[in-house]
Amino acid sequence: MSNNVVIPTSSIFKDDILKGKVAFVTGGGSGICKGMAEALARHGAKVTIVSRTLSKLEAAAKEMRASTGGEFLAVAADVRDHKQMQVAVDKHMAHYGRLDILVNGAAGNFLSLSQHLSFNAFRSVIEIDLIGTFNTTKICFPHLKASKGSIINVSATLPYNGQVFQSHACAAKAGVDALSLVWANEWGPLGIRSNCIAPGPIANTVGMAKLAPEGTDSVRVPIGRLGEVRDIEHATLYLASEAASYVTGQVLIVDGGNWLQPSLE
Ligand code: HXC
Repeated sequence: MSNNVVIPTSSIFKDDILKGKVAFVTGGGSGICKGMAEALARHGAKVTIVSRTLSKLEAAAKEMRASTGGEFLAVAADVRDHKQMQVAVDKHMAHYGRLDILVNGAAGNFLSLSQHLSFNAFRSVIEIDLIGTFNTTKICFPHLKASKGSIINVSATLPYNGQVFQSHACAAKAGVDALSLVWANEWGPLGIRSNCIAPGPIANTVGMAKLAPEGTDSVRVPIGRLGEVRDIEHATLYLASEAASYVTGQVLIVDGGNWLQPSLE
């Protein structure tokens, strides 16, 4: 670690709220989940980031080591393949020896009406978002049980109004919401908390580029702005920290009120 790393202190949370904690973040090499990984590290956690492409992960880890002064391990694995995920979690445990915070963020998406969606396309998104969340969590469970850890799943507001062009993502993310609640019930007695963050329209993300390819002018947000990755970071820090020690089974919508608005279409 370089001694002249500049660690921003602008967060509204204390720098050390996650000191001693270790996180495992799928999808943590880019977009919203990279922000989540970075925020966890900035507040004291050591972090493993996981996605399919090692070169992208290593570049992200290098960047985040410089921006936070924190410790990052990059491990390539596809959340759809439980054998790959077992190897990834084993690498994490061999490196850090514990796991306190699991973020299930790996996701895939694109716009398509149901009648144009191939069987394989529908299945691909279900496999990444929903089955990937199950695979990763089931494999992490013994370690979360040992640490009395916390799960943060990432879903979306899309299912709440049956968003057009999004049957695949709606089905997957509704399932992710449901798993978050089930795990709160099943594992609360073991000391594990399970929550979910449902981001709305977040500026400068792959998701926004894919879901609003013609721009965001028609996106209606009562708060009056698009979300920023740091809005999701703040929700993550809250749910991962002791501040949320009595909070489980919740889906925290972070969307500026966007999903409440009727579509202009
Ligand atoms: C229709 C498509 C398609 C598209 C792919 N497919 N893109 N169908 N429209 N634009 C079809 C393919 O033709 C194929 O079906 C099947 O989906 C699988 O595609 P592959 O490319 O073979 O699979 P894979 O490489 O695994 O890619 C998975 C993916 C991809 C989901 C399709 O987009 C992906 O991995 N993306 C990861 C990054 C990503 O999308 N992140 C954004 C998450 S945003 P056939 O029948 O031809 O075999 C998000 C936002 C939530 O989650 C909400 C925010 C508000």
